[in-house]
Amino acid sequence: MLSHLAVAAFFALPLTQAVLTGRPALTPDHDHAPVSKRLPSAWYQPDDHHVHSLFKRQSATDGVTYATVGSQEWLNAYPPGLPDTSQMPKEWVDALNAAVAAGKIPDIPQSRNTADQDPTYPDGLDPTSPKVCSGTYQCQIPGDIWDAPEGYLGCGFDDGPLPTSDKLYQFLQQNNQHATHFFIGTNILENPKEFVMAFQTLQDDIAVHTWTHPYMTTLSNLDIVAQFGWTMELIHNSTGGRLPKFWRPPYGDTDVRVKAIAHEIFGMTTILWNQDTDDWSLDQKGGTSMDKINTSMTKWLTGPKNPGLIILEHELSDQAVAAFMSAYPVMKSNGWNVVSSAQLSGAAPYQNSPSSNGPVTPAKGVIVGDFTSSTAPSSTTVTSTASPSSTSHSTSTKGTKSSKTGSAVALQIGVSSSWMLTGIVGAVVLAVVTLFA
Ligand SMILES: *[C@@H]1O[C@H](CO)[C@@H](O)[C@H](O)[C@H]1NC(C)=O
Ligand SMILES: *[C@@H]1O[C@H](CO)[C@@H](O)[C@H](O)[C@H]1NC(C)=O
Repeated sequence: MLSHLAVAAFFALPLTQAVLTGRPALTPDHDHAPVSKRLPSAWYQPDDHHVHSLFKRQSATDGVTYATVGSQEWLNAYPPGLPDTSQMPKEWVDALNAAVAAGKIPDIPQSRNTADQDPTYPDGLDPTSPKVCSGTYQCQIPGDIWDAPEGYLGCGFDDGPLPTSDKLYQFLQQNNQHATHFFIGTNILENPKEFVMAFQTLQDDIAVHTWTHPYMTTLSNLDIVAQFGWTMELIHNSTGGRLPKFWRPPYGDTDVRVKAIAHEIFGMTTILWNQDTDDWSLDQKGGTSMDKINTSMTKWLTGPKNPGLIILEHELSDQAVAAFMSAYPVMKSNGWNVVSSAQLSGAAPYQNSPSSNGPVTPAKGVIVGDFTSSTAPSSTTVTSTASPSSTSHSTSTKGTKSSKTGSAVALQIGVSSSWMLTGIVGAVVLAVVTLFA
């Protein structure tokens, strides 16, 4: 009902957008040019001139002109909250239909959950069976990453970017430490400054933590595509055309169906973790404490080096950031190789670029899977057993792992765009669902 106007306005968005790219290549030693070479009448600007901040650390791009991160055009181009699947690009729906037709997406039912509960599956389906293999129940799907190589510690943070990220980013920069940021799409929209800091200044790796932080296994195939698609598109269009290679499921909640959509359609690999600080609950009643985190961190960091560590940490609160900053010297003094989680395999953090400043191979779109050679009938359609408004509204804060952000955060975004109406309706739906859940 609400969608037609919004759809029309969305597709009418101006294609000519502010200039982010197209900067000339720099000499690599630009910042280190000896002062003695500077003549009084030199044509160039002094090193403290503000123009240098525009060119310094500029990342390579795919040559396409994208809307400037943080601009109104940029903000208006994306759903401010829970995505309406009737408004997503047709290519995404086609790719899903083709993947299903090709037998690439396991046909298992959606899980269900009510607040405070781990998702469960209908018909007595065992979540730990290979048929389902739910991450919530610690079932490890082959190909998913849970452990680091011996002696390595995967450095990564969930749920940013947020205002609390600032302190973390200063710390990472001071320590010349790279990390992977598993970003929530709607948090990127809300905190463009922190996003640019992470990607452009730190040149850290950007990965996907979904659009609104739902329990992914509770969603329909279409809703899963929307959660991945919008986050991929936003990261792609805000990083000079890079396609993230990794994603992390909120609450660790994935299964063979969710994994297949991430991998077959979007080309992503899942990164989980093998130790959990519970740092998301630091500011919660009955949550963990700095002392408890110190104790478990000390145990892990002074313990065996094989397998290596992937510790679940968040850039969600000052305390969570402080817990990492406290543990960091202990990681180093115990001889851990601390590397960005997305680089644990030694491969690139992006599907079409080796790094946040390396060359970018242009991608046709965020859909990576190619099912055009599929022999399955093209008339096959996807069965979506849940409408977008009836899923993924859990705002549970008591999950055994991961955080409390998500749709509630998403709906706080102030937007003056065609998406406003969608956001308001979404908020009302959320309120109603929450009331009657
Ligand atoms: C992302 O960038 C592409 C150009 O590569 C453009 O066609 C598309 O409209 C952009 N998406 C959004 C949501 O702005
Ligand atoms: C734990 O706290 C002690 C005392 O403040 C500190 O010396 C130590 O580095 C901390 N360890 C970790 C892992 O944070």
